[in-house]
Amino acid sequence: MFQDKNILLGIGGGIAVYRMAELARLLIKQGANVRCVMTQSACEFVTPLTFEALTGEAVHTDLFDLTSERAMGHIELARWADAVLIAPATSNLLAKLAHGIADDLLTTMMQVCDAPVLLAPAMNSSMWESAATQRNLHTLKDDGFSVIDPRSGALACGEQGIGRLPEPQALADAILPLLLPQSLQGQHWVINAGPTIEPWDAVRVLTNRASGTLGARLAQYASAMGASVTLIAGVGTPNLGCDVQRVDVQTGDEMLQACVQVAQGADVFIGTAAVSDFRFSEVSEQKIKRGDTQQLNVQLAANTDIVASIAGMEHRPKKVIAFAAESEKHIEYAKAKLERKGVDAIVANDVNNMDSDSASGWWIDNRENGINEESIEKCNKMQFSQEIIKKVMELKP
Ligand code: C5P
Repeated sequence: MFQDKNILLGIGGGIAVYRMAELARLLIKQGANVRCVMTQSACEFVTPLTFEALTGEAVHTDLFDLTSERAMGHIELARWADAVLIAPATSNLLAKLAHGIADDLLTTMMQVCDAPVLLAPAMNSSMWESAATQRNLHTLKDDGFSVIDPRSGALACGEQGIGRLPEPQALADAILPLLLPQSLQGQHWVINAGPTIEPWDAVRVLTNRASGTLGARLAQYASAMGASVTLIAGVGTPNLGCDVQRVDVQTGDEMLQACVQVAQGADVFIGTAAVSDFRFSEVSEQKIKRGDTQQLNVQLAANTDIVASIAGMEHRPKKVIAFAAESEKHIEYAKAKLERKGVDAIVANDVNNMDSDSASGWWIDNRENGINEESIEKCNKMQFSQEIIKKVMELKP
């Protein structure tokens, strides 16, 4: 997610510093270059050595340290960053940043930093609610800082309330929008994902191996680019913690109802869900007993094609995109589905992508001069979804 991005962590002095070590690891694992600046009080909680060991980079702590200024001066460090996260942002740090006080390395750097900055405040709930902190936050937001609010729960001071630093993954998710153009702002995207589950009796179901990862990634990325996203999620679809409106469903019919309800007038609808083509004609409330039966015939009824229904709606979304998971003749079958379902584009891929971390496929859309077909090389599902979003944006409504 953060391949080759330079992320500067400005670490303040609060008990939640220990969580920043986990975050540094997570960002590095996802391809980021991470450097850390720690305030003096942060160093009281965790030593710089922890962050040096995790990032493989010198940790900067002192404005007047000639050795580290020679290695990479504070101005250079501020220019190096593609994005900055200040966490835990203590009430003292917020106050200094709001008033332009530059009395240590971190606050001085922030005065020369052009990169987008995310503040993650964490403190005792009374400090958080205090008039001064709220006023400073207001000023900082006006000044263009992004803020991820603290979570509520048990605080280190023994009290309950708002003030906890969000989980490392939530912090990483909140950094992503800082690195992306907000080109989808004002748009509503509806994405369905995952498998559906059709009950047969009290315990048995008909389902498939879809993981919902690709749909969840598409939702995460579209939301990080500023879209308001509704994710209609089949069972097992990962919760990527991002800022999407999630509606959990089980059966194909539930998914249909949920999609129809929200897709009216949307900008984009993407059907990544592996909707069961059939459901049981009769569902037994009791567990069906085997008895002496050696063979059992069950009757299935066809489920409604969701993406085709959305494409045929009166106030249909401006762009409707379907997926076609095939085991052979991928392009040929996908082209037929493009016509049959009345969608604007279709992404053909192999059934083996279904429960894998990577994907490859073909983007096929209908243009005035005929059918356009582009291949998408094998990559991880985050990159695959970025590629699809790019193509959706290029698609003429
Ligand atoms: O026809 P097939 O199931 O291969 O088509 C796959 C595409 O159609 C996917 O976009 C899937 O989400 C959608 N679909 C649907 N409703 C169904 C079956 C498939 O929306 N009942």
